Amino acid sequence: MDIVHDPDEILRKKLSPVTKFNASLRKIVDEMKKSMIAHEGVGLSANQVGLDMSLFIARPKEKFYVFVNPHVELFEETDLKEEGCLSIPGTWGITRRAKKVRITYQNLEGKKRILSTEGFLAHIIQHEYDHINGTLFTDNALELLDVPVNQEESNEKNAN
Ligand code: CO
Repeated sequence: MDIVHDPDEILRKKLSPVTKFNASLRKIVDEMKKSMIAHEGVGLSANQVGLDMSLFIARPKEKFYVFVNPHVELFEETDLKEEGCLSIPGTWGITRRAKKVRITYQNLEGKKRILSTEGFLAHIIQHEYDHINGTLFTDNALELLDVPVNQEESNEKNAN
């Protein structure tokens, strides 16, 4: 799966709910996971690979998460984060994000789940939830910084 880049219009779409929890969905998620890992990303939404499906994946460290038809609630307390996006190579920015989130979603079997989390995973979830609602981090960043793409390799930051 190739990564879709800004300004492709699918990145501006509010994505449609997933209704079929079948082998095809599992295959899509598996392919997304391979693309995310190949690009050393920490998160990836379906529209970033050209699909109109309300779902995203995340891998803050070793553990891999799949969130289908998610709804995210933000807790009040915020902090500033530096973030990048696989769909906007070479651009990094400072964003204000909630420290904690609660995400209600379905798993790959279609079962309803709720996860409360904080830190890096909460940050990734907010970035990806923006994606599936057609928002890019550059829309709300407090500050943007262009970094030559060939310098990103040695950078410890991860895009999502
Ligand atoms: Co992104």
